[in-house]
Amino acid sequence: MAHDIPPLTPMPLGILLDRIAYEWDTRRRIFDLPIARIYNAAEGPDLTMSFLGRPCATPVGPAAGPHSQLAENIVLAWLGGSRLIELKTVQILDELEINRPCIDMETIGYNIEWSQELKIPQSLEEYVKAWMIIEILSGWDELEPHLGDDPGPVVFDMSVGYDLAGISTPEVAAFIDGLIDASESIERLRAEIPERFAPWRDHDFNPRISDTVTLSTFHGCPPDEIESITKHLMTEHDVDVIVKLNPTLLGFDNVKELVTETLGYEEIRLRQSDFDADLQFARGTELIGELLDFGSERGRRFGIKLSNTLVVENHRGFMPDETMYLSGAPLHVVTMTLLRRLNEALPGMLAVDNRDAPVQVSWSAGITRENIAASAGLGLAPMTVCSDLLKPGGYGRIKPMLKALTSAMEDEGCESLTAWVANRNAAGSAVEQYVASLHDPEQNEAYTREGTSKLPRHVDHDLEMWGCVACNFCVTVCPNDAFFRLPTPENMDLDGRQQYFVIRELCNDCGNCLVFCPENGDPAVIKPRLFTNPERWAMETEHQAYLVAARADGKYMVLPNEQGAGEDGATLAAILNAKEGFPIPLEDLSTA
Ligand SMILES: Cc1cc2nc3c(=O)[nH]c(=O)nc-3n(C[C@H](O)[C@H](O)[C@H](O)COP(=O)(O)O)c2cc1C
Repeated sequence: MAHDIPPLTPMPLGILLDRIAYEWDTRRRIFDLPIARIYNAAEGPDLTMSFLGRPCATPVGPAAGPHSQLAENIVLAWLGGSRLIELKTVQILDELEINRPCIDMETIGYNIEWSQELKIPQSLEEYVKAWMIIEILSGWDELEPHLGDDPGPVVFDMSVGYDLAGISTPEVAAFIDGLIDASESIERLRAEIPERFAPWRDHDFNPRISDTVTLSTFHGCPPDEIESITKHLMTEHDVDVIVKLNPTLLGFDNVKELVTETLGYEEIRLRQSDFDADLQFARGTELIGELLDFGSERGRRFGIKLSNTLVVENHRGFMPDETMYLSGAPLHVVTMTLLRRLNEALPGMLAVDNRDAPVQVSWSAGITRENIAASAGLGLAPMTVCSDLLKPGGYGRIKPMLKALTSAMEDEGCESLTAWVANRNAAGSAVEQYVASLHDPEQNEAYTREGTSKLPRHVDHDLEMWGCVACNFCVTVCPNDAFFRLPTPENMDLDGRQQYFVIRELCNDCGNCLVFCPENGDPAVIKPRLFTNPERWAMETEHQAYLVAARADGKYMVLPNEQGAGEDGATLAAILNAKEGFPIPLEDLSTA
């Protein structure tokens, strides 16, 4: 990829809102999420939780990562039932180049994603757009039967990294302050609200989008600075802070034994030096106490998040870097073991085990539909998810997760999360019991190498531009919703019931569709690569690329680049002009 091509080109608020209405009218989906996957928080037991004193209608949401970067990602997560959104980490180095592919979810989870891929002001704008869209959709009559009368409170939690110098720069400070009071951005953006949502042009949007920060202590965050950064955030920005800790805190020997012996992942290579460079357990427990006291003296709340990904040597070769970061099933066991150790070392301090204690424990490590009820029962809140949402079904996996939790609660007659936590701790510490089960070979198969070794389905056929097995995986595993599908027009002689397309401005070549596509080949390169932005299209000279534009007669026009020349452009135009059609209405496209 040429250096001057941005990895992502966000779509303006007006286009996103028009797309929502148009997709809804023509196919009853929003950003490709089907109606059946929209969560109604008003049904079933009350899942409301408190995040550092702020109510959230459900305890689930996307962890800082690829599902909380673009506005449409956040909206998708919210439609699925997320009410705590941990925004993608923002840091001062906003021109880093991430090597590709950067996500490998074939079995467990690995990634080499380093940072936000947008410029800092763009990240701010994406989060404000998402906030405004959520507020608009909360009151949109069309969605009321699916979202319920009241989708309930949502919390946006900022994530920043990775050192004090960076966090203190005017750029990062302006980002934080710009979410604490987003009035300026909202006033600018409200002019873009399209006709269909005209009543919201004068809407009183709450400008206080976020006043909590989760500090990501990863990717080189110096251990000694965790303290200074937390104090800086509490004093300079008056925000409540959660420190996201790394699983290295459990110590090299413990983690090695768990990963290689208890769980059987003999191929995973841990490096002592990575553990030595990170925060050590004794200092970690001291720090938790000190920061809690510091916050309490200033009326600020403090919590911890367990955990970030586990740094390992890259033994797979799918992604390019020497180091990669492990997530998913084994991380769940490692991090639960860390939770048990911290809980023992900090008696009475962590808000787990049905204890009304001062340090909230936020969670991200291998949450799935299968373990969400048990995890919630420990008192962990919120539970944020990344790896599971990168598996087939994507954002559509959130609702079944929440349903698994509410069904378990209903079976025990629990009408609230508080009642659920009390129920799970009735026979003693739920943390103790759960961790014991995760270490027990009779009960932990789902987390072992054997239990996670099933590979995605594969068919021995080379992927082509038209026709494929039509599994829809490229659409659902893409965190950016870059793919969409259209039915093959009946009168057209093309293989396959459905055709698949990639909106290139939203594709950052992360590689997740490549991993899950059952056929041979990269969908992001082989399927028609569509652009709506003429400048971005003009930059694409490596592979086929088509600009979708409006024709004077009210039809979609398709302009190929040199690599796209031939008959495919005409086929493409015919499909985009047929049933369902291109998901963005003509009036939002250029008239090239
Ligand atoms: C592709 C990818 C990107 C991530 N980006 C970030 C990030 O920007 N900031 C951060 O603090 N954690 C990041 N994480 C870590 C997640 O927020 C989460 O803590 C971790 O993946 C464990 O949760 P999981 O097992 O549900 O994936 C990322 C994880 C993945 C897989």
